[in-house]
Amino acid sequence: MALPKDIEKIKKQATVFVIFGATGNLAQKKLFPSMFALDKSDLLPEKLKIIATSRTSHSTQKFQDLTRESVAPNDAKKWQNFSQKIEFIPSDVSENKNLDKITTRLTEIEKEAASCIKVILYLAIAPTIYEDAFKNIGKHKLNFGCLVHKNRSRIVIEKPFGYDFASSQRLNSQIARFFEKEQIFRIDHFLGKGTVQNILAFRFGNEIFEPVLNNDYVDNIQITFTEYGGIEKRGAFYDKTGALRDVVQNHLFQLLAIATMEEPQSFGHEDFRKRRIEIIQSIKKIAKSDAEKFTVRAQYEGYRNEENVDPKSQTETYALVKLFLDNKRWQNVPIYIRTGKKLAGDVASIIYSFKEVKHKVFENFWQNPMPNHITIQIKPAEGIGIRLVAKKPGMTTQLEPVDMEFCYRRSFDIPQLDAYERLLMDVILGDQTLFIGEVGASWKVIDPIREAWDSGKPPLATYKPGSWGPQEADQFMMREGHVWLAPYLTICKI
Ligand code: BG6
Repeated sequence: MALPKDIEKIKKQATVFVIFGATGNLAQKKLFPSMFALDKSDLLPEKLKIIATSRTSHSTQKFQDLTRESVAPNDAKKWQNFSQKIEFIPSDVSENKNLDKITTRLTEIEKEAASCIKVILYLAIAPTIYEDAFKNIGKHKLNFGCLVHKNRSRIVIEKPFGYDFASSQRLNSQIARFFEKEQIFRIDHFLGKGTVQNILAFRFGNEIFEPVLNNDYVDNIQITFTEYGGIEKRGAFYDKTGALRDVVQNHLFQLLAIATMEEPQSFGHEDFRKRRIEIIQSIKKIAKSDAEKFTVRAQYEGYRNEENVDPKSQTETYALVKLFLDNKRWQNVPIYIRTGKKLAGDVASIIYSFKEVKHKVFENFWQNPMPNHITIQIKPAEGIGIRLVAKKPGMTTQLEPVDMEFCYRRSFDIPQLDAYERLLMDVILGDQTLFIGEVGASWKVIDPIREAWDSGKPPLATYKPGSWGPQEADQFMMREGHVWLAPYLTICKI
């Protein structure tokens, strides 16, 4: 985790980012805006170059103009300063075209700097071409950095890493031919979100919550990640991926891990990773024959008319899975994970719903059950809420649910860093704490669900854009004897 002295270290670290896929969605929407924001806050290395590369050919000037439009349309002066660091070299990393130009340019930059530079290769490309990219990067020795052992290149890879267990293992062995563990940064940007890291502070920096976060007290856990937006221009990627692979296998499993893991010995990357992996390994596999009992999948109406989507597509844009962990602390506590595109709003939260205890003294004073809940909310606003019961003012004893809230924006007047800003700094520093390791265990959970879904079980439901999802998901919860708590427990309202 970045300390003030780490920032000094970052600033002194001569660095070149090589961004593959520089004209794509990720680079334009996340990477360049984050780098620009870091530059404005003076947090980037003093000696920094960004080699942007993609198959579409541009001059450096044209690429800079194009990027400026999406990153800083109204910030001409600051952009001018930042854009001088960007150069464009057209190349095709999957077809091995023009990579020699990148190698040559790196050598020149090193000569100009008269010192070793840290090379960071960022693959903002389609995961389907990772394997070829590793090979071609290896052919051109881009993995070597400046040949001084301790200054080898780093490679940053986006999720999904693989398509299923087998492909993730194949990719692992491919990448291992060219890169050592310390060089590999697998990004799951949810780990870079400040509120997600705050779950650790909430759980392990306080005394009063951890003793009740277990199956003696918690009835169920609900992890919700709903998006108002659709698939935008990403039809080609999304239609092959679907919600389960796009966000459940990675982002939502990481949230689950942080919400349920045991306290790590330290926040060093080995200890923290170990605890997260333990949780993923403890998820009970859903047998293919049980998929109808444990999952719901659905597609929003109109999805098949989206650009680059198969008109007969069976891809889910909504996924619900009920999971159990096979460990002592969480045995028999159902964990409901759901996500979807084009829903009624942007919500990301973890809710621990507590068991309902019949308090004898109040027996006659409430009609409806009022269990306690703890909500950790990432969206729409960041905070933590506790739903409890209070006596309504008045002569009679009437109990009502109320919320106690901690809201980031009320307690701190510093905005949260964007997840990518934080993670890019960690890559420069070489800190792997907020990056993921081996991903095989999560694919082992996903694969049987995927297999069942691909064989039509359960059938693909549909839902209206702007709704909270398919009716099947509500009926599912009703059968479980629960209701969805998000968004009804939304806290820190504006
Ligand atoms: C990405 C998914 O990893 O995360 C997208 O591919 C999703 O489909 C996005 O929209 C959500 O991230 P955030 O940080 O915008 O909530």
